[in-house]
Amino acid sequence: MSSFPAARLRRLRRTPALRRTFAETRIHPAALVLPVFVKEGIEQPSPVGSMPGVSQHSITSVVALAREAVAAGLGGMILFGIPATKDAEGSGGWDPAGVVPEALRAIRSAVGDELVLWADVCQCEYTDHGHCGPLDADDRVRNDAAVAGYVRDAVAYADAGADVVAPSGMMDGQVAALRTGLDAAGHEGVAIVAYAAKYASAFYGPFRDAAESGMVGGDRAGHQMDAANRREARRELDLDVAEGADALMIKPALPYLDVVLEARERHDLPVAAYHVSGEYAMVKAAAERGWIDGERAMRESVLSIMRAGADVVLTYAALDLARDSSR
Ligand code: PBG
Repeated sequence: MSSFPAARLRRLRRTPALRRTFAETRIHPAALVLPVFVKEGIEQPSPVGSMPGVSQHSITSVVALAREAVAAGLGGMILFGIPATKDAEGSGGWDPAGVVPEALRAIRSAVGDELVLWADVCQCEYTDHGHCGPLDADDRVRNDAAVAGYVRDAVAYADAGADVVAPSGMMDGQVAALRTGLDAAGHEGVAIVAYAAKYASAFYGPFRDAAESGMVGGDRAGHQMDAANRREARRELDLDVAEGADALMIKPALPYLDVVLEARERHDLPVAAYHVSGEYAMVKAAAERGWIDGERAMRESVLSIMRAGADVVLTYAALDLARDSSR
């Protein structure tokens, strides 16, 4: 009936060069952030069994990794610390001589402003019970006490040179408290990328090996979001915007692409998504068995996260993806 010729969508797919030219989404190394584990008191990097290609780093090896990240053109690195000793309060998190401040200073002096340095802010790596802050008599995380700790952590990281702090504890009011605390300490220039919609996820399993942040008992479902909820994510996003977040993060990424899109369409702030340990480990494990092409699956994962609306992706595959930016 139509007088138009039949649609020929295959013309622009015919050759690799055509596909490359007309691609709507590209993975640029500058939009990738590499999560990094630094462990107090080790001399050599220690591989993380459940995350092939990922290691816990010493201060020396994390500096070498930062130089590699600069050479690869990565946007930045986000640091997680593993302290030598833990206590009920998680006081190692705000120790100015702690492993994250030490790493921040060492990396900054090695690479200057060539990399954006992010510090994750949570207490789960620093408490002896593994929860995200001090507990009440019923073993629930005390919201405001945890937030007070996060403010001390964030100021310690800012003092050590962090450009970005990323509160991941999912306590109510954490973004506003961090903004007030950072400003009061003279760190008006330090940005907050809020883990706005962070779900209580089974995909964090390998991270808890890497960060040695497994819980002695219980789980995080009392403060992280329920996988069933998308409307609630809007409320989390809106609150973090109102509290002064500079950018919004969704985590995990692939199982929550609807939430990434939601954040992109609802707010004008930059959107980051965290392609988490389990998402990475699944691809690596299947590839090791020869069941999938790991490089392609990793690229497709991160490309899809960006297509859904993420401006920035935190991924353990950042260096691999940056080295092969053929697409
Ligand atoms: C909390 C934190 C976690 C991750 C990032 N920050 C773990 C958790 O909430 O239990 C997980 C990241 C990943 O799985 O790669 N500090």
